[in-house]
Amino acid sequence: MAPPRRTAGLALLLFLGACGFFQSCAVEVDVKDASNVTCLYAQWMMKFLIKYETNSSDYKNASLDLTSTVTHNGSICGSDTQAALLAVQFGDGHSWSVNFTKNNETYRAEFITFTYNTNDTAVFPDARRQGPVTIVVKDAMHPIQLNNVFVCHHTTSFEAENVTQIFWNVTMQPFVQNGTIGKKESRCSADTPTAAPTVLPTVANVTTASTTVSPAPTTAPTPAENPVTGNYSLKTGNKTCLLATVGLQLNISQNKPLLINIDPKTTHADGTCGNTSATLKLNDGNRTLIDFTFVVNASASVQKFYLKEVNVTLLNHQNGSVILSADNNNFSKWDASLGNSYMCRKEQTLEITEDLQVHTFNLWVQPFLVKENKFSIAEDCSPEVDYFIVPIAVGAALGGLVVLVIMAYFLGHKKHHNAGYEQF
Ligand SMILES: *[C@@H]1O[C@H](CO)[C@@H](O)[C@H](O)[C@H]1NC(C)=O
Ligand SMILES: *[C@@H]1O[C@H](CO)[C@@H](O)[C@H](O)[C@H]1NC(C)=O
Ligand SMILES: *[C@@H]1O[C@H](CO)[C@@H](O)[C@H](O)[C@H]1NC(C)=O
Ligand SMILES: *[C@@H]1O[C@H](CO)[C@@H](O)[C@H](O)[C@H]1NC(C)=O
Ligand SMILES: *[C@@H]1O[C@H](CO)[C@@H](O)[C@H](O)[C@H]1NC(C)=O
Ligand SMILES: *[C@@H]1O[C@H](CO)[C@@H](O)[C@H](O)[C@H]1NC(C)=O
Ligand SMILES: *[C@@H]1O[C@H](CO)[C@@H](O)[C@H](O)[C@H]1NC(C)=O
Ligand SMILES: *[C@@H]1O[C@H](CO)[C@@H](O)[C@H](O)[C@H]1NC(C)=O
Ligand SMILES: *[C@@H]1O[C@H](CO)[C@@H](O)[C@H](O)[C@H]1NC(C)=O
Ligand SMILES: *[C@@H]1O[C@H](CO)[C@@H](O)[C@H](O)[C@H]1NC(C)=O
Ligand SMILES: *[C@@H]1O[C@H](CO)[C@@H](O)[C@H](O)[C@H]1NC(C)=O
Ligand SMILES: *[C@@H]1O[C@H](CO)[C@@H](O)[C@H](O)[C@H]1NC(C)=O
Repeated sequence: MAPPRRTAGLALLLFLGACGFFQSCAVEVDVKDASNVTCLYAQWMMKFLIKYETNSSDYKNASLDLTSTVTHNGSICGSDTQAALLAVQFGDGHSWSVNFTKNNETYRAEFITFTYNTNDTAVFPDARRQGPVTIVVKDAMHPIQLNNVFVCHHTTSFEAENVTQIFWNVTMQPFVQNGTIGKKESRCSADTPTAAPTVLPTVANVTTASTTVSPAPTTAPTPAENPVTGNYSLKTGNKTCLLATVGLQLNISQNKPLLINIDPKTTHADGTCGNTSATLKLNDGNRTLIDFTFVVNASASVQKFYLKEVNVTLLNHQNGSVILSADNNNFSKWDASLGNSYMCRKEQTLEITEDLQVHTFNLWVQPFLVKENKFSIAEDCSPEVDYFIVPIAVGAALGGLVVLVIMAYFLGHKKHHNAGYEQF
């Protein structure tokens, strides 16, 4: 049973940073329901460019920023049947609000209502008509998964009725359940698909006094390249018991696909060796944990080992909370006879869940019976084939390069020759 939701909201409001002359304020609104837990959370920055008519019958542009006095009267938690409302009032008679509706699976912003008051002489010194002007704009935001937090760092703006509304650094979530801001982000399309979901707002528990400035979210660029191959090993005493050489890439598809390359330089290997089971635990410095568990299949006539389980956990940078945890213990991949090693240079994909895959490159692994710190005989996933193609491809590419270089040389010469005549 869902806890009772009340529609009346108690809200508290924080300001982050200074609202200087040139600097816009970030507004943070945390609306609480009757049981005093967050039901609507938003933090964002906005400003307005307004074209207004002057007393000399021409039009001027005014810029309206949030002032240091912002109130939030009328914000509403919302429910299945009632729209949620985020409403703020600022300056001399200006106000802004957006309402949200939801269905089973998604929420969406419906209408933005903006009222500016041209009697504010600081902003509209020579307005012909003095008084409030209200505009209502249908919001173009796509529906967002319920319980996801909507994040948009990029500037978005739209123009309607001589007003340009500009927003940036937006984090918001209506219909918050159990007072906990969603662990999953839904990014606006303007934010690159490269923005890592590793930093989430840590705001489930905002108190009035703490004006904590949240640190700038870090974004990892989507790697265009294959990951660097790492060498990992485990020891028992001074003896190596597990060897693994592999380049690892995570492919996370929440809203947009995101590729994360694991950097071997900052990745630490840990785990356990055993006679029938061994686990390699990799921990990159950025709080990505990947565990590989290998087992021995004793029932086969020839004893083989194989990869049985992969467990991936992504932790929040700041507070270590789990952002994503995915486990598949039903693999039977990377198998080779016990005593040998398994090798696969080409890219392979381990599907952990629908939303998470691990791509492996240049794999060479031996989880059992390592002798003298060295790999034993390798059983290759696809002998020959790849090794023919690679030299041919490289050869072809080099051949092409030579042709290009020669062409560039001649063309360059021609250009130089002509330059003198073409310039005037
Ligand atoms: C809600 O919680 C805050 C701090 O946790 C407390 O100061 C306040 O009195 C509570 N309000 C109600 C109505 O319980
Ligand atoms: C949202 O706000 C607009 C403008 O105030 C209003 O017309 C509309 O009825 C509201 N939607 C809901 C579902 O309350
Ligand atoms: C402008 O209008 C607002 C709201 O209508 C009112 O509160 C404020 O006092 C007015 N200011 C002036 C200077 O008339
Ligand atoms: C809500 O969920 C029910 C059952 O899962 C489904 O039949 C119904 O169509 C859904 N309604 C909407 C608006 O998505
Ligand atoms: C327009 O308004 C400004 C500021 O109030 C005032 O100084 C000016 O005289 C007005 N001009 C006209 C033509 O009324
Ligand atoms: C917008 O500005 C134009 C002049 O550029 C004016 O004719 C029009 O009435 C204005 N519209 C509104 C809604 O103020
Ligand atoms: C909220 O709490 C209820 C009951 O504890 C639970 O069933 C539900 O999954 C929770 N929702 C979220 C989004 O955490
Ligand atoms: C809020 O944070 C305080 C201190 O960190 C903690 O004791 C309290 O349990 C938290 N409340 C909720 C509802 O998470
Ligand atoms: C967005 O917020 C971050 C920190 O939250 C801040 O460093 C950055 O300057 C802000 N961007 C803009 C354009 O103000
Ligand atoms: C490992 O330890 C054993 C006994 O503790 C010792 O005899 C051997 O020389 C050591 N090997 C290396 C490579 O240090
Ligand atoms: C964490 O990720 C960022 C962005 O990809 C990278 O610049 C940084 O070096 C990584 N830090 C560690 C310790 O791996
Ligand atoms: C996956 O790894 C995480 C972190 O090491 C751990 O907390 C979790 O229990 C593991 N899940 C499974 C199913 O082994």
